[in-house]
Order: sequence, then C-alpha cells, then structure tokens
Amino acid sequence: MTHRKLNEIAGGVARSRKARRFLIGGGFAAAVFIASCASTERMVVLPPKIAGASFVGSGDCAMCHWDVTDHFDSATHANLKLAGAGDIDLGCESCHGPGSLHVESGGEMAMSIHNPGRSSEACFQCHTDMRGQFHLASSHPVMSGHMTCTDCHDPHKGPAVIGGGTALHGANDTCLQCHSEQAGPYAFEHEAIRDGCTTCHEVHGSVNPMLLKSRTSNLCLQCHMVEPAGTGPGGGAVIMIGGRDHSAFLSRGTCWVAGCHEAVHGSHASSSLRF
Ligand code: HEC
Ligand code: HEC
Ligand code: HEC
Ligand code: HEC
Ligand code: HEC
Ligand code: HEC
Ligand code: HEC
Repeated sequence: MTHRKLNEIAGGVARSRKARRFLIGGGFAAAVFIASCASTERMVVLPPKIAGASFVGSGDCAMCHWDVTDHFDSATHANLKLAGAGDIDLGCESCHGPGSLHVESGGEMAMSIHNPGRSSEACFQCHTDMRGQFHLASSHPVMSGHMTCTDCHDPHKGPAVIGGGTALHGANDTCLQCHSEQAGPYAFEHEAIRDGCTTCHEVHGSVNPMLLKSRTSNLCLQCHMVEPAGTGPGGGAVIMIGGRDHSAFLSRGTCWVAGCHEAVHGSHASSSLRF
C-alpha cells in the first residue's frame, strides 16, 4: 500500500529563498518557475496521485488532524503551493496526495489517502537527486529500509533540516539521537565537534569510508594549517602542524590511523587525542 504507484503530475519548481514560496505545476499546466536571484536550481516535483481525487488544500485537514496541522505552519513543506486555481496550499497533500475523497468520506481509510509510512519513496518523488547519495559506498542504510528520511527530517513541524541547516547545535542534535558516544563528554574534547558533525561527515552518503568528506589528511588540514618551517638538517622540507614537526608522521597514513590521533571525537586519556 505504501508503494502505491503514484503521480503523473510533473511540474517544475525553482526556489526563492526570499519568498519561501514554491509553485507546483499541476495537471496539464505548463511548468511553473519562480525567478530567483539566489539560485537557479530547479526541481521537478511529483505529488502523489490518487484516482478520482483532487487537491483541497491543508485547511480541510485541520478539521480532524489538528494535532498535525497545529504546528504545520512552521514546516518547510507548508510553503508548497499548487499553481493556478488561486494557488491552493498543497502542504499536506504534497506527500499524502489529493485529499478530496478522504475528506468527503470523513476519513475513510482504504485508498482514500496516501500514507508514506516509513517508506522513503514519498520523498524521492520530488527529491530525485537524493537517491544517488544513498547508493554511495558509505551511506546511511536508507535503501535497505533500516532508516528513513523522517528519522532526520520532520515532515510535519519546523524546518525540514533541523536548525535550518545553520544552527549547529540543532544540527548536531540530529546525529546525537543515534550517535551519542561521539559527543562525549570527554576529558579532552576536540573543539572541532562544536563546529558540527558535518564539518567532517557527509550526512547522506559519501564515496569515502565512514561518510567522511575526505579520506586524506586534508580533512584535518582545513583547520590545522601546515606552518611554514623551512628545511630540516637533511635538506627535506619540515612540516610543522600544531607546533610539532610532522615530517616523519604523514607518510604513515591519515591523521587518525592507529597510534596517531585515533580519538578524533575526543579522548578520555590523551590531550593530543591519541586514544
Ligand atoms: C472528517 C475528518 C478527516 C479529515 C477532514 C481528514 N482526515 Fe485524515 N483521517 C481521518 C480519520 C478518521 C483517519 C483514520 C484514523 C486514524 O487512524 O488516524 C484518517 C487517516 C489519515 C491518514 C492515515 C492513512 C493511513 O492509511 O494510515 C493520513 C495520512 C491522513 N488521514 C491525512 C489527511 C490529510 C492530508 C487530510 C487533508 C487533505 C485529511 N487527512 C483530512 C479523518 C479525516
Ligand atoms: C513532507 C511530506 C509530508 C507532509 C508535507 C505531510 N506529511 Fe503527514 N506524514 C508524512 C510521513 C513520511 C508520514 C509517516 C511518518 C512515519 O511513520 O514516520 C506521515 C504521517 C502522517 C499521519 C499519520 C499516519 C499514521 O501512520 O498514523 C497523518 C495523520 C498525517 N501524516 C497527516 C498530515 C497532515 C494533516 C499534514 C498537513 C498538515 C501532513 N501530514 C503533511 C509526510 C508528510
Ligand atoms: C511534492 C514534492 C515534495 C515532496 C513529496 C517532498 N518534498 Fe521536500 N521539498 C520540496 C520542495 C519544493 C522544497 C523546497 C525547495 C528547496 O529548498 O530545495 C523541499 C524542501 C525540503 C527540505 C529542505 C531543503 C533545504 O534546503 O532547506 C528537506 C530536508 C526536504 N524537503 C525533505 C523531504 C522529505 C524527508 C520528504 C519526505 C517525507 C520530502 N521532502 C517530500 C518538495 C517536496
Ligand atoms: C542521518 C540523518 C539523515 C537522513 C537519514 C536523511 N537526511 Fe537529509 N539531511 C540531513 C542533514 C543533517 C541535512 C543538512 C545538511 C547540511 O546542513 O550540510 C540534510 C539535508 C537534506 C536536504 C537539503 C540539502 C540538500 O542537499 O539539498 C534534502 C533535500 C534532504 N536532506 C533530503 C533527504 C531525503 C529525501 C532523505 C531520505 C531519502 C534524507 N534526506 C535522509 C540528515 C539526514
Ligand atoms: C536514526 C538513527 C541515526 C541518526 C539520526 C544518524 N545516524 Fe549515523 N548511522 C546510523 C546507522 C543505523 C548507521 C549504520 C551503522 C552500521 O552500518 O553499522 C550509521 C552510520 C553512520 C556512520 C558510519 C559508521 C560506520 O560504522 O560505518 C557515520 C560516520 C554516521 N552514521 C554519522 C552520522 C551523522 C554525522 C549524523 C547526523 C547528520 C547521523 N549519523 C545521524 C543511524 C543514525
Ligand atoms: C574533526 C572531524 C570530525 C568531526 C567534527 C566528527 N567526526 Fe565522526 N569521524 C571522524 C573520523 C576521521 C572518523 C573515522 C575514524 C576511524 O576511521 O577510526 C569518524 C568516525 C565516526 C563514526 C564511526 C564510529 C567511530 O567513532 O569511529 C561515527 C558514528 C561518527 N564519526 C559520528 C560523528 C558524529 C555524530 C559527529 C558530531 C557529534 C562527528 N562524528 C564529528 C571525524 C570527525
Ligand atoms: C573545524 C576545525 C577543525 C577540524 C576540521 C579539525 N580540528 Fe583538531 N582542533 C581544532 C581546534 C579549534 C582545536 C583546539 C585548538 C588547537 O589545539 O589548535 C583542535 C585540537 C586538536 C588536537 C589537540 C591539539 C593539542 O595537543 O592540544 C588534535 C590532536 C587535533 N585537533 C587533531 C585533529 C585531527 C586528527 C583532525 C582531522 C580528523 C582535526 N583535528 C580536525 C579544530 C579542528
């Protein structure tokens, strides 16, 4: 049921950061784009289709689902609008499909409304570009069904990206629901964590192991600069990092291999995060 074959409605959407308002071209209407000076990125959106039903807008859902609609105004997807016919608030129906039959029947269940449940397919309908990220060598197990988009993105409340992608505290909270160990507390904290998990990790998937943004020491050198220190006694360049000569160390591998800074998230025992 959750994988009901959906939609034919294909429209286009462009984002307007200023207006935070998105138009969806419905039916045979031409694709609608909002010109935006912030970005020219475009997105094809495909709300689910339900045979015989039409879009009624989020307002009608409030009659019975006030627990969801009460705080929906703050949700990212509350801004979705259906082009034409007075710009209906697509809102709820962008994921649940057109609700006229469901509303008329007073909430009759079978086939009258789409319940995505824990399926990510509802999200891929529009966010088609995200699918690839979850097929990368290292990725959160969404394709296997062990996780789903709503583990990290609330569809009903607040910014879909917790913290709106800016508040670091909020962003780390997303990860700490499941990975509390990495936040410590540690006797020797690594200040990098305060900059957010996403300083070093991709959130969906990566070509590098452990969802890392880089598999080399560049990951660390974005903050710990190599200090110019001339040449050593043997004539080779001296590589100073953090006030220590690292010339002989870098050939051993990345910064976080065993014996070096293995405890990248923080350490209970070593100020230089060795273990
Ligand atoms: C007249 C009351 C009423 C209105 C209006 C209404 N619903 Fe429902 N809805 C129900 C009832 C009753 C149920 C089933 C009870 C339950 O399990 O929550 C339900 C169930 C659902 C479900 C779960 C379906 C499933 O198969 O598990 C979704 C999703 C849903 N409604 C979305 C909406 C949306 C979106 C709107 C607005 C377009 C809407 N509802 C309008 C009464 C209503
Ligand atoms: C961005 C997509 C999205 C939007 C927009 C959205 N929902 Fe949902 N909704 C979901 C998903 C996904 C689930 C299943 C959540 C889960 O099980 O983890 C869900 C679950 C539900 C359920 C519960 C069904 C159940 O299994 O008990 C109801 C009722 C519901 N939504 C109503 C609404 C209403 C009303 C609105 C608008 C105010 C709305 N939704 C907007 C994605 C959305
Ligand atoms: C009907 C199409 C549609 C569906 C279905 C849909 N989205 Fe969206 N979503 C959009 C649009 C349009 C935007 C705003 C454009 C943008 O900022 O990228 C958006 C924005 C977002 C954002 C915020 C992006 C940002 O940069 O702030 C996230 C996260 C997101 N959606 C996740 C989801 C998840 C998770 C689901 C499934 C539960 C889902 N979406 C279902 C169309 C959709
Ligand atoms: C493990 C948690 C997690 C899961 C699972 C997850 N996301 Fe995200 N997603 C995030 C975080 C955190 C961000 C913000 C990234 C940033 O700020 O760098 C984000 C950003 C986004 C964005 C906006 C940024 C962009 O790259 O355009 C979209 C859209 C999005 N996610 C969609 C999805 C969809 C669709 C799914 C399910 C198929 C999903 N996400 C699953 C954590 C997750
Ligand atoms: C809902 C739970 C959940 C959330 C939230 C979550 N993760 Fe995960 N994470 C997992 C699961 C499950 C795995 C797969 C573990 C495995 O394969 O053994 C994983 C794997 C990882 C891995 C790779 C570890 C390994 O052993 O391969 C990293 C790194 C990671 N997550 C970072 C993050 C970051 C960063 C965030 C926040 C954007 C986040 N996670 C949010 C559940 C979660
Ligand atoms: C300074 C960069 C950096 C930051 C910031 C960072 N990580 Fe990591 N993380 C790494 C590296 C490097 C590894 C790989 C360690 C290895 O291979 O042994 C890793 C591995 C992981 C793993 C796999 C298990 C483990 O501990 O080795 C998880 C889960 C994880 N990180 C989650 C997080 C979370 C959650 C945050 C935010 C609280 C975070 N990371 C912040 C660099 C970072
Ligand atoms: C977002 C910036 C940032 C990133 C990325 C980062 N660090 Fe740090 N790191 C810091 C800050 C800030 C400190 C504390 C001040 C200092 O000692 O330079 C610190 C301290 C350290 C220390 C302790 C130095 C001491 O002896 O007091 C080590 C070791 C360290 N980082 C290793 C790493 C490694 C390994 C990586 C890559 C996996 C990394 N850092 C990535 C910001 C960062």
